Amino acid sequence: MKQRIFVNDVAVRDGFQIEREFVPTETKVALIDELSQTGLAKIEVTSFVSPKAIPNMRDAEQVLNLIDRVPDVIYSALVPNVRGVERAMQCNVDEINLFCSASESHNRANVNRTIAQSVQGFGEIMQALSGSDTKVNCSISTAFGCPFEGEVAPEKIYALVDQFIELGFDGVSIADTTGMANPKQVRELMNEIVKRYAEIEITLHFHNTRGMGLANVMAGLDVGVVHYDASLGGLGGCPFAPGASGNICTEDLVHMLELMGYNTGVNLDRLLKAARKIPGIVGHEVPGQVLKAGKSTELHSLASVGSSAG
Ligand code: COA
Ligand code: ZN
Repeated sequence: MKQRIFVNDVAVRDGFQIEREFVPTETKVALIDELSQTGLAKIEVTSFVSPKAIPNMRDAEQVLNLIDRVPDVIYSALVPNVRGVERAMQCNVDEINLFCSASESHNRANVNRTIAQSVQGFGEIMQALSGSDTKVNCSISTAFGCPFEGEVAPEKIYALVDQFIELGFDGVSIADTTGMANPKQVRELMNEIVKRYAEIEITLHFHNTRGMGLANVMAGLDVGVVHYDASLGGLGGCPFAPGASGNICTEDLVHMLELMGYNTGVNLDRLLKAARKIPGIVGHEVPGQVLKAGKSTELHSLASVGSSAG
């Protein structure tokens, strides 16, 4: 039996949040509907944050209400506070993805509060959610390094996860917000996290800012992590982290995993068809590699290159 790997596409949220031009609601909805037909396990479809902070997510309600939901796909949304939870619940979201940084300065830049204030707010959120069956995940940003503070001690991550388990969260995403993680570090930290926290779902969220994204996935696979975030075309980035750039690219990730014999459940051709639309949607080139080079199984005729001989 091939091992199942679960892929969450975050292009419509992490990807579009950093784009300067507003992506029209109907374009977001059409893209999500297309992604829903690819076999992805989860799609992060929007964020219920302040429209002043992230103008591109100001249509969160419309997006969630207009998409055609496929039963096997989990539709999640990023949420910062009780107000965001109320908005998300009105749209019947499947999963709420809270977020908090491992470093104080990024948390301040991103959500204008201390980490302790964020955690306290999560307690209020869990009260607001009591009795509901909506899943709750929390993404820990800057977990592998902070663009303001540098190294982040693993103890900070453990302390947060301990509190999240006490609060009753279903999962945590360990996020490398600005691509500072390296494979050795990922192997060491995630080995420990997987051992300590068998009771919750653990996801890895990498950005390819320094070209280490897929190598970091390999390190995560080595220690048994089976949930990964990725973004179509390799879009993405946090507007409140200097130098932020794209997530690991979903189609490149799926291409690699399938070649290695993992089962992602994703139809790569359908995924590539959707990815082909991304440059047109955002109005610029995107980092994804497989879209440009073609799948490694696609061979070329020798005649197509001619001959170097005179
Ligand atoms: N949805 C919509 N609007 C919201 C909101 C929510 N969940 N939470 C707060 N707001 C509005 C408030 O009503 C207020 O609006 P006003 O200025 O018109 O009165 C404004 O946003 C500021 O709210 P306030 O409670 O004073 O919070 P703040 O200024 O300290 O900002 C956040 C805190 C969390 C709302 C804001 O920093 C934010 O949305 N950050 C998102 C960051 C993000 O998405 N980063 C990328 C992901 S990594
Ligand atoms: Zn991210």
